[in-house]
Amino acid sequence: MCGIIGYTGQSEALPILLEGLSRLEYRGYDSAGISVFNKNKTHTTYRAAGKLNELKKLTETSKATGLSGIGHTRWATHGEANTINAHPQSDTYGNLSVVHNGIVENYLDLKQELTNEGHLFNSDTDTETIPHLIEHYMNDGTGFEEAAEKSAARIKGANAVVVMCNDQPDKIVAFRTGNAGGVLIGYGDNEMLVASDIPAILGYTNTISHLLPGELAVLHPNSVQFKDQDGNPIKKEKTFVPNDPISIAKGDYRHFMLKEICEQPDAIIASLMGRLSSEEGLFSLEDLNLTADDINKISKVTLTGMGTSLHAAMLARLWMERIAGIPSEWDNSSEFRYREPLLDENSLFISISQSGETADTLAAMEEAKKKNISQITLCNYSNTQASRIADQTLQIRAGLEIGVAATKTFTCSLVTLYALAIYLGVQREKINGKEAAKLIEELFRLPEMIGTVLANQGQYEELATLYHSSSDFLFLGRGYNYPIALEGALKLKEVSYIHAEGYPAGEMKHGPISLIDESMPVVALVPKDELYEKMMNTINEAKSRGAIVIAVASESDTEIEQKVDHVIRIPDVSDSLSPIVASIPMQLISYYFAVRRGCDVDQPRNLAKSVTVE
Ligand code: F6R
Repeated sequence: MCGIIGYTGQSEALPILLEGLSRLEYRGYDSAGISVFNKNKTHTTYRAAGKLNELKKLTETSKATGLSGIGHTRWATHGEANTINAHPQSDTYGNLSVVHNGIVENYLDLKQELTNEGHLFNSDTDTETIPHLIEHYMNDGTGFEEAAEKSAARIKGANAVVVMCNDQPDKIVAFRTGNAGGVLIGYGDNEMLVASDIPAILGYTNTISHLLPGELAVLHPNSVQFKDQDGNPIKKEKTFVPNDPISIAKGDYRHFMLKEICEQPDAIIASLMGRLSSEEGLFSLEDLNLTADDINKISKVTLTGMGTSLHAAMLARLWMERIAGIPSEWDNSSEFRYREPLLDENSLFISISQSGETADTLAAMEEAKKKNISQITLCNYSNTQASRIADQTLQIRAGLEIGVAATKTFTCSLVTLYALAIYLGVQREKINGKEAAKLIEELFRLPEMIGTVLANQGQYEELATLYHSSSDFLFLGRGYNYPIALEGALKLKEVSYIHAEGYPAGEMKHGPISLIDESMPVVALVPKDELYEKMMNTINEAKSRGAIVIAVASESDTEIEQKVDHVIRIPDVSDSLSPIVASIPMQLISYYFAVRRGCDVDQPRNLAKSVTVE
């Protein structure tokens, strides 16, 4: 989604803004722009559709000088992804410059009102109403800062806005309306920064403050003032964020996606560290704050998320029911928020969002909050929007994930949910200490099992060579591996742009079978589990209709080779943990197919790392 960076200080702003934008590329975008302000009370704006290189080319021919400015990577919501609609957007006379993340829900009304007043609009964006609205107040003699405050009060929806004005070139005003689109303020040495997220400003500062919904910040090179939504001055806490240069650098890997896939054994260890002990009875989820009474009273668990996080929710439902013994359901967050869900006071609501910023998930959480339901959220970062809504946060501890496609954040969410299910199961006496110890012991072997799968990547390159030009793929799984079939199809679509469908294998005969022919690869998740025979029946049915079957099968399955075209091996593992191991081949298939097809693996077209609009 859109990325924001702003700088005011003693150094030339242009290179700092460009560097910040390049660190925000991972969020996904389709155009970019920068405004640089100077002491002569003018500013230069560059905007370009496409990748950051296009913007860089513009700035190379005429380098604007100035010690302050703002920059933006745009992911189009209102108006085509072209130069005119790229940010920064300006007012009628070009006095103001605005970058924005979110959707101004009442922009049509505002645009009408301002057009009637004589304001001239250039773009199709909702964003452009913001500088015109500020201009409207300034036309009455209101100062820049106060005009921004008055405008913030009139803008509906969840928005993060950063604005600058020619008259006061070293001043940046940032504000938030509603509950999406993070803004953080960075404290440098005689310089201040503002950004949508941390990577943009690491290198300039490690000290930040978060702006909350309704708050406004006024930055000068040596100071910042914060105000609440009523305009009263407030003090904000400063947080220290450690540098993580190893994660930021791609190292020897060709893509962040591959690096992050390969980091999973370590990331999972980090997720589990200090949380569980395989010694019988010794067990803690130290960051969970539910009493034994709270846990015993839980009547139902409702899990939610979007995309890959939704697949984690689907899988966790099975663990919550089978390991913790609690009736459970899952729902897509964007559906949950509108379905008037029936939740009683003893329901537990669990949301999964690695970014903690996904607008639909936040809205679903708000919906549950209205019902006073106890809430846990799983995030990969601290201080997220989601953590502020939930009663408690379980950090998944995957480390920074730059590739747009979720990989290590998926498996780290899964192990955290698995640990939670064990914890709840023990507290509710669905499983005893001995049974828990066995599950935990196997969980600790997961990094090693995943390491075995990662050690054998040559076969994915071979499959990509054979089938990279297929136009359609089918992914089939059952039970614990049904959500993984969905995840496999999603990953392939996302990064390699091959059409793929994921189905519970039992559904195949009810429609999808008509798609099968000799040009259709079918990826069948068929570990030696309780549904193995059923899966084999489906594979036979697909084979007898000419399908090319790629099986993801257990090491000990000695017969599978004769029944399918290709076998990807995973270590023998219990039924309940097999989906975590089986998700690694899904990631590797999509990665190697995308590379073979020459796709932009880390920043697939049209996708964003955090989807901060509905
Ligand atoms: C898929 C992917 C998306 C996200 C979804 C939710 O690879 O990355 O489907 O899973 O946008 O994002 P979070 O987890 O940040 O809420």
